[in-house]
Amino acid sequence: MKRIFSGIQPTGEIHIGNYLGAIQNWASLIDDYDCIYCIVDYHAITIDFDPGMMQSRIMETAIINIACGLDPDRCSLFVQSHVPEHTELTWIFNCITPIGELERMTQFKDKSKQHRHNINIGLLDYPALQAADILLYKAHFVPVGEDQFQHVELTREIARKFNRRFGETFPEPQVLPPDTPRILGLDGKKKMSKSMNNYVGLTEPEDEIWEKLRTAVTDEARKRRTDPGNPDRCNIFTIHTGFKSREDLEAIDRDCREAAIGCVDHKRILYDDMMAHLAPIRSRVRELRENVDYVKEALEKSARRCREIAVEVMDEVRAKTGIRPVN
Ligand code: TRP
Repeated sequence: MKRIFSGIQPTGEIHIGNYLGAIQNWASLIDDYDCIYCIVDYHAITIDFDPGMMQSRIMETAIINIACGLDPDRCSLFVQSHVPEHTELTWIFNCITPIGELERMTQFKDKSKQHRHNINIGLLDYPALQAADILLYKAHFVPVGEDQFQHVELTREIARKFNRRFGETFPEPQVLPPDTPRILGLDGKKKMSKSMNNYVGLTEPEDEIWEKLRTAVTDEARKRRTDPGNPDRCNIFTIHTGFKSREDLEAIDRDCREAAIGCVDHKRILYDDMMAHLAPIRSRVRELRENVDYVKEALEKSARRCREIAVEVMDEVRAKTGIRPVN
C-alpha cells in the first residue's frame, strides 16, 4: 500500500472549512492507503501560543478528527512531539536547505506580517520541519490544500538534494489535491479561518451556527428578495455543495436564479442539510469527550507504530550522513 502523510495544527476549534477541505478527504483515503495523520504541536509553537491551552487543544483536535472518521484502528493519528525523530531529521535538513528558499515561502512572508513582534527562527524553518514530517515516513502522497503546495514542492527539493548528496533515500512525495471547492469564510471573501473569525465551528451550539449563517454574505449583486440570484457567485451555495450533491442542489440553483427563494430561505435549507450531515459527528465528539482515556491510548498506540518507522529511517539517515559508523 502506498503511504500518505498529512498534518493538522492543534488549534482546538475545527471549522467546516477544515472539515470539507481536508479532514473529510483524509477519512476517505484510510482504506486505500497506509495513512499517517499528525497533530503538529511543534509547528503550532512557531507563532504566539498559550502553553496552558496546548494539551486541551491537542486533545480536542484528536477528538474531532476521530469523530470525522479517522478511525484509530484503520489509520495512524499521533502527536508530532511524541516521535522525537521529527526534530532530529529537521536538523539534518536545516544543513542542506538554503535560507533563501525558506525566505521566499509565501506562508512565511504572510505570517511575518501578521506576527511582526515574533519573527522567530522556527517560523522561518517551519517548512524544513514539515519536510521532515513527510520524509521521515517516506510518504508517497500528501493530501493538502493549495496553501501548502509550495511546502510540498520544497519537500521534494530537499528529498532530491539529500538523495544527490548522500545516496538514494527518500521518494519525492506528491500532492494529493482535494476535489472539494475552496470554502470561503462567512464574509464570502477570505478563506475560512479561525484567526479571521469568519468560520462555522464543527461543534458550535446550533443557535450560534444558525446566527452565523443567517448573517453570512451571499451573492452581493442580489440586493432585494425579488432580484434573481446567482449561485455561482454565492458562497452559501458553494458551502452547500459540501453537504449535498450538485444534482440534489439543482432545484435550489433554479429557484435562486428565478428569485423563487430568497437567501434566508436557502440558508435555512443549508442549515438543515448541514446539521443532518454533522449530527453523527457531533454526537461522536460528545462521546469521545467523555472518553478521553480511549483517545489518549489511540494517540499513544499510533505514536509507537510511527516511532518504529521513524527510528529505522533516522538510523539510515545517520549512517548515510556519516553521523553513525556503518558497522
Ligand atoms: N503546514 C500544514 C498546515 O498548516 C500542517 C502540516 C505540518 C503538514 N506538517 C505537515 C501538512 C506535513 C502536510 C504534511 O496546514
